[in-house]
Amino acid sequence: LIHPPVIAIDGPAAAGKGTLARRLAAELGLRHLDTGMIYRAAASRLLAGGGDPDDPAAAALAAQTLGADDLVRTDLRAERTGEIASKIAALGPVRAALLDFQRSFGRTAPGAVLDGRDIGTVVFPDARAKIFVTASPEARALRRHEELRGKGVASIFADVLEEMRLRDRRDRERAVAPLRPADDAVTLDTTDMSADEVFAAALAHVTSRL
Ligand code: CDP
Ligand code: CDP
Repeated sequence: LIHPPVIAIDGPAAAGKGTLARRLAAELGLRHLDTGMIYRAAASRLLAGGGDPDDPAAAALAAQTLGADDLVRTDLRAERTGEIASKIAALGPVRAALLDFQRSFGRTAPGAVLDGRDIGTVVFPDARAKIFVTASPEARALRRHEELRGKGVASIFADVLEEMRLRDRRDRERAVAPLRPADDAVTLDTTDMSADEVFAAALAHVTSRL
């Protein structure tokens, strides 16, 4: 049995995972899932229900009872939601509760591009192609800062950089599914690359694997 192809895109915050994954999916006729949004939805559900973000049982319950409604919450992209998402993402029961959804999404025809932190290492260790997208913390903070400004949100570069460093450290140092490139992933350092250049390099690698 041939499974629908899964392409795994992992990397730290604002490396350009979502931008790349969306373009690859459109180009290849695959579906796209930004898995960070599921962790953000669990965080948002926890906060909306008045749960204590430092209580592991409350966090696990929020992840276990996640529904389609939570994926359209208005605060999903907020910095605070990302911060709480990264906190609860360090908990094994939270990650376990979100695994099935990601796997069935990827296994559904015609296949999918998933982006996150542990797609190539944990969610789909047998993915057809794996790309680890990274860039210097300064470049990534600048991207996020400019994105916020573009949306008319007040943003201070130094604060964005500081928050990003904290979140990256937490994601890299956690015991469960830490952020790291899979052994068979291709790493793209995009610090000095445009989104178009990243797309071209990634597409060349992915097509060689399909
Ligand atoms: O998903 P992730 O948080 O990794 O990043 P994103 O949401 O795709 O945002 C990356 C931002 O950086 C977007 O505003 C892109 O236009 C920009 N960018 C990029 O994606 N790739 C580059 N090589 C340069 C800039
Ligand atoms: O957009 P950005 O890259 O800033 O973050 P995100 O992809 O929306 O993810 C928010 C948080 O969810 C991350 O800091 C991770 O802690 C967590 N996450 C994870 O643990 N595993 C994933 N596959 C995706 C996100």
